[in-house]
Amino acid sequence: MHTSELKKLLSSMSLEEKIGQLVQLPGNLQQGGLITGPAGNFDLTEEELRLSGSYLSMVGASQLRQLQTEYMARHPHHIPLIFMADVINGYRTAFPIPLAQGCTFRPDLVEEGARVAAKEASAAGLHVTFSPMADMVHDARWGRVMESTGEDAYLNGCMAAAMVRGYQGNLTDRGTIAACLKHFAGYGGAEGGRDYNSVELSCRTLREEYLPAYKAALDAGCAMVMTSFNTLDRIPSTANRWLMRDVLRDEMGFAGVLISDWAAVAELINHGVAEDAAAAAKLAIEAGVDMDMASPCYIKYMKKLVEEGTVSPDLIDQGALRVLELKNLLGLFENPYRFLDEADEEKLILCEEHRLSARRCAEASFVLLKNEQQALPLSSQEKVAVIGPYMNAQTLCGSWAVFAEEKDVYNLQDALLRQQGPENLSFAPGCPMVDPSEQLVGFKCPVAQEQMDLEAALQEAVSLAKAADKVVLALGEHKECTGEAASRGDITLPACQLRLLDEVCKVNENVIVVLFCGRPLDIHALNERAKAILVAWLPGTEGGPALSRTLYGHAAPTGRLSMAFPYAVGQLPLHYTHLKTGRPYNGNPALRFVSRYQDMPNHPLYPFGHGLTYTSFRYSPVQLSNTLLKKGESLTASVIVENTGSRPGTETVQLYIRDQVGSVARPVKELKGFDYITLRPGEEGTVSFTITEEMLRFWNIDMKYTSEPGEFIVFLGPDSQTENAASFTLC
Ligand code: BGC
Ligand code: BGC
Repeated sequence: MHTSELKKLLSSMSLEEKIGQLVQLPGNLQQGGLITGPAGNFDLTEEELRLSGSYLSMVGASQLRQLQTEYMARHPHHIPLIFMADVINGYRTAFPIPLAQGCTFRPDLVEEGARVAAKEASAAGLHVTFSPMADMVHDARWGRVMESTGEDAYLNGCMAAAMVRGYQGNLTDRGTIAACLKHFAGYGGAEGGRDYNSVELSCRTLREEYLPAYKAALDAGCAMVMTSFNTLDRIPSTANRWLMRDVLRDEMGFAGVLISDWAAVAELINHGVAEDAAAAAKLAIEAGVDMDMASPCYIKYMKKLVEEGTVSPDLIDQGALRVLELKNLLGLFENPYRFLDEADEEKLILCEEHRLSARRCAEASFVLLKNEQQALPLSSQEKVAVIGPYMNAQTLCGSWAVFAEEKDVYNLQDALLRQQGPENLSFAPGCPMVDPSEQLVGFKCPVAQEQMDLEAALQEAVSLAKAADKVVLALGEHKECTGEAASRGDITLPACQLRLLDEVCKVNENVIVVLFCGRPLDIHALNERAKAILVAWLPGTEGGPALSRTLYGHAAPTGRLSMAFPYAVGQLPLHYTHLKTGRPYNGNPALRFVSRYQDMPNHPLYPFGHGLTYTSFRYSPVQLSNTLLKKGESLTASVIVENTGSRPGTETVQLYIRDQVGSVARPVKELKGFDYITLRPGEEGTVSFTITEEMLRFWNIDMKYTSEPGEFIVFLGPDSQTENAASFTLC
């Protein structure tokens, strides 16, 4: 439809119809819909139900075909519904959790994953996914770090943009869906790492560290944006006119649909900025929130607010037009079923190609934290005991893969047996995933584990460990310990797993820990005991095969930490891009009056960017094409990388820049680029990056986004702690 036709359509609609376009009802109001937030009290009339223009969390080709057909027949202008849901790390074929996808440092793989998700979801009738989440995260206590791609603004931006490209294509391509960027803004900065908590950020830090990743997704053409639950500068985002109108729309140029998060309009009452639902509706629409997700505020109160002159009818027109434009962009007026297709749904979901893509992404996301005496890879001749509650767990998809099914997961034990045969392998759970005393509120451990005889399970594991050459310990946190509303004050492994580790280490010195988690954990105790640690995260449907291939060296781990593993929870929040302080700690513990902890290091156990593989690399010093950089020109920074090990391997080279002196304090280092190179043993290759003045800009003392002349240090190395550097001057 042409814009003029859309406007004509809008002008022929009643006020109730227009408001209906601004409403998204939770799927559980219909049969088969999922619920992903607190159930609200809707008490809809026939007419309200008939006019509400969108559903959340309903999927399935035949179900949505029927719903769409019946709805359109009853709608006065036969305007189609738009279906949205959370397709976060895959639809039915689950990919690794987003934090793990960040660890790939491979936007191409992340884009492919989003495309696979879009193909499956669009066949099942979905039009929009609530992804990417581009929230900056610095605090591993926050359960939603698993949904982000990590602690770095630049990496997050690359990944968010890749997801948008993957989901959307150009939106007319078959198998695409629209993307919705979230949670705008600053949600990941929750105080104390507690979900839904307040965020306290300076305007400068918001702009420097938080907005760039959102901006990258918008620049990639992301169709929608979602508000965040938190306050920023004491104003809840969903009522923050400055944030939504001045920053998001005017500065960042966003012209699409802005939707609230689940019930966030109604929650303005809990925040204490609205006295009732009508006041909340007024605040939100005036802030620029087009759609009200899963709250009764717009549908129940907006009509009266407009009729009594409290809310301008222009705001309703603007919001409704944007929703109609989105429906039009998706082609729903021409074909309200879009790519919904029962046959495609059957054929595409969990097809071999999609499983293979998920496996490749999982392999690229594993991070080898340490590997003493080349404990990994395993050899087929060794006797290996695979022990721990994750050795045969089906719960590998993470709590946001809401449409993935555990029965479709290929677990580690099955994959190992298929790949290696039973001869040199033995298996035992050793202990439950969580201690019975640490049961998660609202979630039950699998029954078998609840009834596990703890001592007998431990003894069985110890005797297998004794008889083996090496032990693979599959440990980790319960999948429900991460995700929304899963903040934790203690991020160590459950006591029963640490006891299992102790007992196994007593009888076998070759212990390899495979760690399943949705956040960086405090593993400093475990770190001293294990010969090797491979972080598997929550690797998705094909987690088992990806791991068995990696453990036996058919694939090599190449992932790099997208978020540091802290030394202990007391360091949080933590990020490598911290500012220079007046009293920096230089590592000399004899110095008293410096910025440091007395009882633990300042630096994390494993830093951002860290990850080993099955070979080793040597870096040459950094070469610069010039030591002067003029505005409008560029210089090249390069390094020669040599494979010094005995296996072929892939190295991810990272470019960091430090601004030596600025009008405001500058970070010690910031990631500005990354690239990978694959080398045979003994082979060397050059990796180069172009540096331009634009890459050196920041929000200066006058709040102008600009660069300042002076000295800059360029680092090229394997992680954020690299000191391999050279300097140039910007003039
Ligand atoms: C979450 C969003 C999600 C929405 C819909 C909310 O609770 O914060 O990330 O998209 O629910 O399920
Ligand atoms: C402290 C001040 C103190 C000053 C003089 C500084 O290190 O921060 O509180 O008054 O020394 O002793």
